[in-house]
Amino acid sequence: MFVTSRNSLFRRSLSGLVFRTEDGPRVELRGLTEYDAKEHAGHLKRLSPQDRRLRFHSMMSDNAVALYSRRMDWQHALAFGIFIDGTLRGVGELLVADGSDDGEISVSVEHRFQKAGLGRVLVSALVLAGRRIGLKTAHMYFVPGNERMRALSRAVGAKPTFAGGVVESVIDLEPPADRTPLRSGGGRRGWLKKPAAGSGSGRAPGSKPLNSRHFA
Ligand SMILES: CC(C)(COP(=O)(O)OP(=O)(O)OC[C@H]1O[C@@H](n2cnc3c(N)ncnc32)[C@H](O)[C@@H]1OP(=O)(O)O)[C@@H](O)C(=O)NCCC(=O)NCCS
Repeated sequence: MFVTSRNSLFRRSLSGLVFRTEDGPRVELRGLTEYDAKEHAGHLKRLSPQDRRLRFHSMMSDNAVALYSRRMDWQHALAFGIFIDGTLRGVGELLVADGSDDGEISVSVEHRFQKAGLGRVLVSALVLAGRRIGLKTAHMYFVPGNERMRALSRAVGAKPTFAGGVVESVIDLEPPADRTPLRSGGGRRGWLKKPAAGSGSGRAPGSKPLNSRHFA
């Protein structure tokens, strides 16, 4: 069931979303599959030692990272990548245990590309995709001093609790009552907020545009 929903979602978004920024870089958001495992490992290896530790909650050698990417359960993962000028610079993963309606979100953005909104784009994509395939909740785990992750989880409405030395932040993915299903009879799948008439750019109210000038 999960695999079918996931595959139909990724087939539809195979070409990805491409943004051309004013000052040059080509930014593409698309779903990742097992064929991207090498790129995925390359991205994780380029994280700074501190960011790599924040991502995995422990030190990870290059070999361990390569093994993680190769052995990731790609069939039960929803993963999105952000490619900048063709190189994978940010990854968001939503891992789901077989038969579960709860997932775990992890996210990473390379240092030079941080603070430009990419983390928020990745987490938002995972929240929408998780909702679309019928998950009820998603968890994010991070160490207490990880303020960027705390800000990110707050931005998607996650509720943090402190347990066993890590912050566990839970996002409720159940669609609010005022959402209209994309397809009638689609159960919990296919929810999309109807845009208000004449509601401009399609960006969420208060959301910030991607700003490639931050890639200093
Ligand atoms: C966490 C991470 C993915 C954020 O990526 P990013 O692309 O910089 O994220 P964004 O640009 O969308 O910014 C995230 C938020 O952090 C805030 N932020 C950035 N630097 C900050 C800082 N030093 N202190 C507090 N908040 C900060 C931003 O203002 C933003 O909040 P806002 O949208 O409310 O303004 C990135 O820092 C990273 O890869 N960290 C290492 C891996 C990790 O910690 N993963 C989490 C555990 S799985």
